[in-house]
Amino acid sequence: MRETSKRHLSKGKTIGLVPTMGALHEGHLSLIKRAKSENDIIVASIFVNPIQFGQSEDLDKYPRDMDGDMAKLKGEGVDILFMPEVKAIYPEGFSTYITVKDLSDKLCGAFRPGHFTGVATVVCKLFNIIVPTRAYFGQKDFQQTAVIKRMAEDLNMDIELIICPTIRESDGLAMSSRNAYLNPDERNAATVIYKALKTSSELIKSGNTNPAGIKKHMHDMLTAEPLISEIQYAGVYNIDTLDELNEFNKQNLLAIAVKIGNTRLIDNMPVEF
Ligand code: PAF
Repeated sequence: MRETSKRHLSKGKTIGLVPTMGALHEGHLSLIKRAKSENDIIVASIFVNPIQFGQSEDLDKYPRDMDGDMAKLKGEGVDILFMPEVKAIYPEGFSTYITVKDLSDKLCGAFRPGHFTGVATVVCKLFNIIVPTRAYFGQKDFQQTAVIKRMAEDLNMDIELIICPTIRESDGLAMSSRNAYLNPDERNAATVIYKALKTSSELIKSGNTNPAGIKKHMHDMLTAEPLISEIQYAGVYNIDTLDELNEFNKQNLLAIAVKIGNTRLIDNMPVEF
C-alpha cells in the first residue's frame, strides 16, 4: 500500500483517504464524494478495528457487507480499497498505543474506556501506511474527530483533516452502521435523538434558556421514549474541551448518547450564537 501511495505522491498526485469499518451507508459515500472532489487518488479503508471495541461490545456482530461495500466503492469511483487483516495491523508483539489524554476520557470515553486509544492508534497506523494528503471523517463522531485532530497536531502529522457534515435519514436519524441493529419499533423510537437536539437548538436560539434548562429538556424528551434503555449523556458541552457547560459560549456542542435496547447510538449538533 505504501509503495503504491509513494508512487502516486512522487508524481505530484494527492491522495484522499476515507477510513471506515465497512457496512457503508450514505454518510460514508458523502465522505468519498468530497474526497473525490479534492484529490487525484481516492483510498477507502475497511478495517473493523478490534482494539477500539470493549470486551462487552459488538465486535463479533459488527455489521459486515463486503459485496455491498465493494459495489458501493466501485460505484463512487474509489481507486484503491485497503482492507488489511487483523494480524497485518496488529502482528504478534504489537505494543505501541496512542492515547490522547483528557479528550478521550469524556463523553463516550467515560462509557467506552480505551475506545479512543484504539481509534487514535489505528488511525495513526492508517496514516503511516497510506500516507494520505487529506483524510475525511464524519462529524457524527464528533469526539473522534476532536481526538484525531489533537493527535495530528500534537504529533506533527502532515495531513489535512476534513470533517464533513452528518448525513441524516429523512426523519433526522443520523446515518450509522449500527442503525442496522434496530428493529422497526426501535428504529422509530431512535428519531427522538434528533428531535431532542433540534428542539434544543431552537430553544437556545429563542434565547430563553441556559445549559441546565437544555439538559433537562433533552432528558425529559429522551426519558419519555420507553424504548430508550439508558441515557449515557445528554447536554451542552464546550466544543473544544468537551466539558459540560454551565453557561453558553459563542460555539456550543449539543450531544447525546443513548441505548435503545442493546444498540448504542450517538448524535450531536453544534449551536452557534
Ligand atoms: O469511524 C470509524 O469508522 C472508525 O472509528 C475509524 C475512524 C475507521 C477507525 O477505526
